[in-house]
Amino acid sequence: MSAPSLALVTGASSGIGAVYARRLAARGHDLILVARRADRLNALAAALRRDHAVAVRTLPADLTAEGDIALVEQALRSEPIDILVNNAGIGPITPTADLSDADAAATLSLNVTALMRLTRAALPGMRARRQGTIVNVGSVMAFHAMPVTSLYSATKAFVLTYSRAIQQEVKDQGILVQAVLPAGTITDFYDTAGVPLAAFDQSAFMTAEQLVDAALVGMDRGEEVTLPSVHDAALWTAYDEARARLFGGTQNGAPAPRYQQA
Ligand SMILES: NC(=O)c1ccc[n+]([C@@H]2O[C@H](COP(=O)([O-])OP(=O)(O)OC[C@H]3O[C@@H](n4cnc5c(N)ncnc54)[C@H](OP(=O)(O)O)[C@@H]3O)[C@@H](O)[C@H]2O)c1
Repeated sequence: MSAPSLALVTGASSGIGAVYARRLAARGHDLILVARRADRLNALAAALRRDHAVAVRTLPADLTAEGDIALVEQALRSEPIDILVNNAGIGPITPTADLSDADAAATLSLNVTALMRLTRAALPGMRARRQGTIVNVGSVMAFHAMPVTSLYSATKAFVLTYSRAIQQEVKDQGILVQAVLPAGTITDFYDTAGVPLAAFDQSAFMTAEQLVDAALVGMDRGEEVTLPSVHDAALWTAYDEARARLFGGTQNGAPAPRYQQA
């Protein structure tokens, strides 16, 4: 009998990551759960072992700390991890000039550097085994710049662009890289960001369970960009086609006539 497939979920101590952990356990995957709050990870691990008879380990780690990122990279390099869910993320909601240096550095480190490093640690083994899935949790803010979320939107644009490029690199290697772009989702994210969830229009929010279940349907279909809240799928197609046309329009070796000096 082949060994059960192993999944590693970052940010598994709450919200979207905890739901990914529950759903993957229900599908029979063994799990490694990563986040800082070990007590929450341990409680979730015990519940998953009890409810789904899967093997669950916790790997408490601060993914903004060098030594801790290295521990998670080591797990990804040394174990046959089939599914990596890069979900841990934060998004301070503060005017750019008022954001503390520490919060700015942590946002960049978690949303960009950790996701990049864990993706790179996972890929060689997946390529050698010719199978694997990396789920990169971005945001619809990847294509929407707004006041007070400048850094967050920019980090999520990174997640989308990084994922889109790697998809092209691995398309013949049996690896799926899925960018999941949630819109408003009911989690602790907003309290952590400094603005209570109650301050937002609740009609634009779905539950973390709805979000993850939709994202898993996308994953099962091999979808590369999943927008669970977008009902009209043609919107993404039109957006991506416009992006490709714009890039095509940049490939000229001369300035456009409108930039000629008067
Ligand atoms: N909620 C939304 O409306 C929404 C919309 C679009 C995208 N997203 C994205 O969804 C992802 C999950 O967020 P969520 O909504 O589920 O929020 P959440 O409930 O606040 O979960 C965030 C997770 O990230 C972990 N985390 C935070 N800092 C960390 C660190 N330094 N090291 C390791 N883990 C850390 C947290 O665990 P510990 O505190 O225990 O470390 C927690 O498990 C994020 O990438 C977010 O950008 C959310």
